[in-house]
Amino acid sequence: MQIPRLHPDTIEEVKQRVDIYDVISEHVVLRKRGKDFVGLCPFHNEKTGSFTVSQGKQLYYCFGCQAGGNAIKFLMDLEKRSFAEVVLDLARRYQVPVKTLEVQQSQELQRQLSLREQLYEVLAVTAQFYQHALKQSQGEQALEYLHHKRQLPEGSIQQFGLGYAPPGWETLYRYLLENKRYPVQLVEKAGLIKPRKEGKGYYDVFRDRLIIPIHDIMGRVIGFGGRTLGDEQPKYLNSPETELFNKGKTLFAIDKAKGEISQKDQVVVVEGYFDAIALHAAGINNVVASLGTALSLEQVRLVLRYTESKQLILNFDADKAGVNAAERAIGEIAQLAYQGNVQLKILNIPDGKDADEYLHSHTSEDYQQLLKDAPLWLDWQIEQIIKDRDLKQAADFSQVSQQLVKLLTKIANIDTREYYVRRCAEILSQGEDRLVPLRVENLLTQITPHRETGISRKIAPKKTASASESVTTTEHSLLEKAEALLLLIYLHSPEQRLNIVNVLEEQDLQFSLSHHRFLWQKILEFSDNTGDDLIAKVQYKCLEFAEDMELISHLFYLDEKSQKEILRPSQVIQAATACMERVMREKRYRYFRELWEQTDPETDPKRYQSYCQAFYAEKMRLQELEKQRQFSITDLL
Ligand code: UTP
Ligand code: MN
Repeated sequence: MQIPRLHPDTIEEVKQRVDIYDVISEHVVLRKRGKDFVGLCPFHNEKTGSFTVSQGKQLYYCFGCQAGGNAIKFLMDLEKRSFAEVVLDLARRYQVPVKTLEVQQSQELQRQLSLREQLYEVLAVTAQFYQHALKQSQGEQALEYLHHKRQLPEGSIQQFGLGYAPPGWETLYRYLLENKRYPVQLVEKAGLIKPRKEGKGYYDVFRDRLIIPIHDIMGRVIGFGGRTLGDEQPKYLNSPETELFNKGKTLFAIDKAKGEISQKDQVVVVEGYFDAIALHAAGINNVVASLGTALSLEQVRLVLRYTESKQLILNFDADKAGVNAAERAIGEIAQLAYQGNVQLKILNIPDGKDADEYLHSHTSEDYQQLLKDAPLWLDWQIEQIIKDRDLKQAADFSQVSQQLVKLLTKIANIDTREYYVRRCAEILSQGEDRLVPLRVENLLTQITPHRETGISRKIAPKKTASASESVTTTEHSLLEKAEALLLLIYLHSPEQRLNIVNVLEEQDLQFSLSHHRFLWQKILEFSDNTGDDLIAKVQYKCLEFAEDMELISHLFYLDEKSQKEILRPSQVIQAATACMERVMREKRYRYFRELWEQTDPETDPKRYQSYCQAFYAEKMRLQELEKQRQFSITDLL
């Protein structure tokens, strides 16, 4: 195969997306040990595990043979393949669009690469320039501001490389061009100077501001934030977007936080530069700042790589509270949270303070306690919805219940949704426990099927669903499969026959499809069906029923596929009967529900209640089945 030249964007994105644990665990059995994973080294022969994989560092290392590297290196060495082949493979696996390079492009790229290198250099030199200026007499006021107003120790000022941009329109410009002899285009591309609108020449972007350098994950300066020392607007001025700096992809302090994020298995995202700096200064180091913008998927993906259990606490300013503001700040992770792919918690500091202000009058332990007590995002939203409402008032009640339904509709994860349906039902029941089942049912009917979040009709039956309605196509094919597998096992695994009969009897299950029911009857007509000759006998009996035979004859033979399918018969039996039970209960659920809907509670309260209880019981059992489902019939399709 001719391997194309891959675009560095593709390589970069693959590196960002790939997870070393995913990759290696496909080839090596890994066990968790501390923060890392260990296993038997695939590169040398060993009996004890010296092979260590660190998800935090995204590296592996073998203490036995010193093999080590990242996920790409692992696959290259293990499969003896080239870098490009491995990257291409991973790109497919992680659905990274593959961009390739023509020769010409490739040359252009070389130029760009060296441009990037040069930009890093100019920015590093500039950071030093600002740092130096902070310690000069012109920087006195800024330093004073850091020490007193911000109460920052010298160590933090050093650690974050804080600086000062002197006043004057061309201070940095002159320094970089005259002293350091950098080309003007380069300095402009670094986002440090701008061409004057009138006349010739350039002026400095940052003037008389406190400077906060922004680093990439590897600790290289890629841009700056500049805070005014007075009341000037804007309060913060940031580097423009450049070749290196993309605000939406950057998290401030990620370079300093990543180690601690993986250590604590948790990341705290704050809004402001100084919130992050203050928390780090207080010894809370798993903190990054979002630079005041809504969190993008890329930012989240970047940071979640370091936490295995995907715990993210968003500490955003409470003065902007309100569900809408939260959703804006949460940005694209809302979707991840509704799907259950990130454990999102919300911290609003009391009295509308931000973390920096809070730490001026509280200890770091106080803040840790706030983190501990922060509610999960869904709980937080529910709190916001019911805050200052009086559910005894009809208007409040109906608004709250509508908002809760809206929230529940967005939850894609079935278990999570079930849990919150119940919570909301309890809230709406206001302490009257006997109302809870009705409220549950009420909420469920209002949660309309929602394609995006994948709410299925199993959980949210349509109001129009009628008892006579036939099962849907997927349900039908699942059921067909389940019943067929059960018959297949019965016919071909004599030792399972008794088990199958027992399970069907215990759970009062019948075959629903007529050709299966037919076959089952024929089977039961034999008093002794323990022997291996059962198949031949049944087959013979069925011969005269050509129509049914057509649908069941495949069950008399085992081909390669079906042989595999019944390899673990007891699991298959369990999955198949669970599927049959589900279909049966769904039918009964719909049946009782329809009766209930047709009953007038005024004239016939007893029946009304008993139907309600009946369909509620079916529903609960259905939810239980959904939960128990360890090995589903769908896995076999
Ligand atoms: P805030 O307005 O909450 O400010 O902006 P803050 O961090 O508490 O500021 P201090 O404590 O008064 O210094 C939060 C973040 O939004 C971005 C910055 O990254 C800031 O840290 N921001 C804010 C800007 O980029 N520009 C602005 O004009 C304001
Ligand atoms: Mn602040």
